[in-house]
Amino acid sequence: MAPPLKIAPSILASDFSRLGEEIHDVIRAGADWIHVDVMDGHFTPNITIGPPVVASLRKHSEVPLDVHLMITDPDFYVKPFADAGADLISFHVEAAYHPHRVIGKIKDAGCKAGIVLNPGTSQEDIDYLTEAVDFVLVMTVNPGFGGQAFIPDMLRKITKIRAMIGPEKDLEVDGGIDDVTAAQVVQAGANVLVAGSYIYRSDDYAEAITSLRATV
Ligand code: DX5
Ligand code: ZN
Repeated sequence: MAPPLKIAPSILASDFSRLGEEIHDVIRAGADWIHVDVMDGHFTPNITIGPPVVASLRKHSEVPLDVHLMITDPDFYVKPFADAGADLISFHVEAAYHPHRVIGKIKDAGCKAGIVLNPGTSQEDIDYLTEAVDFVLVMTVNPGFGGQAFIPDMLRKITKIRAMIGPEKDLEVDGGIDDVTAAQVVQAGANVLVAGSYIYRSDDYAEAITSLRATV
């Protein structure tokens, strides 16, 4: 068993020149969270957005902002993103020297804390963090870009992590999620589906979100 299914459209695939409308449209289409990909050009081979953009997004979203930090030394950026209006903040286990300290900072700032694993990182690397975090995010592509192919080996990892964290905590997946892979990851134990291109490249956002929900 897992908590209820949630759909988190990733704005990385949206039209950045119309960000406010793009957010309204997916919320109206049934989005549960808005997934915000933060990349620094160091941890990831791409650069996206920072706290001022999150602060603008906050005014357009009545649903939680799920901020995924793909940055080195996330410690320094927890407060700016929390102040900007993030509701959930996740960071990579590969990028933090003192992950419990970062989790503490996220919680002290009043946000839910999540730990993220790259595809090549073992579930064992978060073994001592599962009590401390509110949720886990399994990358099903290597971080950096939208539109990449789902890595099937991640299904085994999702199953192992669901067993580690128990039935109550959210287990999010990110990368290459469409109506086919959604069914596979939910079957494996995930319950929060991030989807960028599948939703934003479709002609009908509501239909795309509904087709992801139909996987349960
Ligand atoms: C990848 C990002 C993802 C990305 C997913 O580094 O973390 O959130 O936007 O995009 P799709 O759904 O297109 O794979
Ligand atoms: Zn992401």
